[in-house]
Amino acid sequence: MSALITNIGELVTNAPGDDGSGQDGPGDYLAASSAALVISDGLVAWTGPAARAPAADEAIDAGGRAVLPGFVDSHAHLVFAGERGAEFAARMAGLPYSAGGIRSTVEATRSATDSELSANLRRLAAEMLSQGITTFECKSGYGLTVADEARSVALAAQVTPEVTYLGAHVVPQEFGPDPAAYVELVCGPMLDACAPHAKWVDVFCERGAFDADQARAVLAAGQSAGLQPRVHANQLAPGPGVQVAVEAGAASADHCTYLSDADVDALASSATVATLLPGVEFSTRQPYPDARRLLAAGATVAIATDCNPGSCFTSSIPFCIALAVREMRMTTQEAVWAATAGGARALRRDDVGHLGIGARADLIMLSAPSHAYLAYRPGVPQIATVWQAGQPVVGGRSA
Ligand code: NIG
Ligand code: FE
Repeated sequence: MSALITNIGELVTNAPGDDGSGQDGPGDYLAASSAALVISDGLVAWTGPAARAPAADEAIDAGGRAVLPGFVDSHAHLVFAGERGAEFAARMAGLPYSAGGIRSTVEATRSATDSELSANLRRLAAEMLSQGITTFECKSGYGLTVADEARSVALAAQVTPEVTYLGAHVVPQEFGPDPAAYVELVCGPMLDACAPHAKWVDVFCERGAFDADQARAVLAAGQSAGLQPRVHANQLAPGPGVQVAVEAGAASADHCTYLSDADVDALASSATVATLLPGVEFSTRQPYPDARRLLAAGATVAIATDCNPGSCFTSSIPFCIALAVREMRMTTQEAVWAATAGGARALRRDDVGHLGIGARADLIMLSAPSHAYLAYRPGVPQIATVWQAGQPVVGGRSA
């Protein structure tokens, strides 16, 4: 089964060299006024000028609209119960954000049934898909007992292959006087129960959560159980998180709000992606990360939602792209690349985040003529059609 999408006003491929530069990076578009793409057996089979497109079983007229790779959201916490709207309102009235708020979600999550957790998770996953997210990562971290973390990763594994074990989110109340005992649990029985369902291990390395030595222990234990590391780093203050992430060979250091020059250098000279989560700074009134400094140093930058009930309750990557452009001074091309190819790198995936030949046919058609509209028209729904592995899953086939 094949389909030809033709008359595309702007085709963002993220395929190295499509902008004629021979370089991999933002701006790899087939921006000719009429581009086309062929999907065959769930994969991208051909891209090029519409006039030269091969025949296919069906043709879809994009009517001059833009087509982009589906968004890759490399950071989300979707397994939880309850909500923290009042905490958000209090913050907007002047209270600061602190890692401690996580504990109220832990309480609600522990008392929820599996089917309540699953319904909330699936609702958020559907919300993400309707906003063009075709691949997302999902963390545990609101259970913090062996049983509650194990069910969190098991539920997450039902909706995505990118499952992260985040037993080291915060030290739960009952371990308050003995955080070392909690780290032992996270590195021992809890890991054993979670590893079969997860691909990643994560730790919140921050004052109020886990220090550098604890974070190293958690990542090393996860790695010896076959999980790959990623780190919540330098969100609320300067600290060791980024260095710990780079030392461990983490796929990504996430947040990166407070970085030293040495942190920037470490990210730029490693394969660790700097994942920026501007929705968090929006929702916590913190300063935005310095994306330009990271880009100028040569670091790979991703943008993700961090969708969670506390620090940022958005599932909208278009909103995060608009923030990245307006508040972090990323170009529209850089922001879209960071939310697609950048996210894929943060998940060490080469089959998504781009529309090169052979990529998974995960793509979105906007109701607008260019990627720039995602920031140009903030807050306006513009995802007209979403295809996952070549199948239309949101919107119709015809433009
Ligand atoms: O990524 N930083 C740690 N975890 C989440 C916040 C979770 C919460 O406040 O519930 C984050 O921002
Ligand atoms: Fe997070």
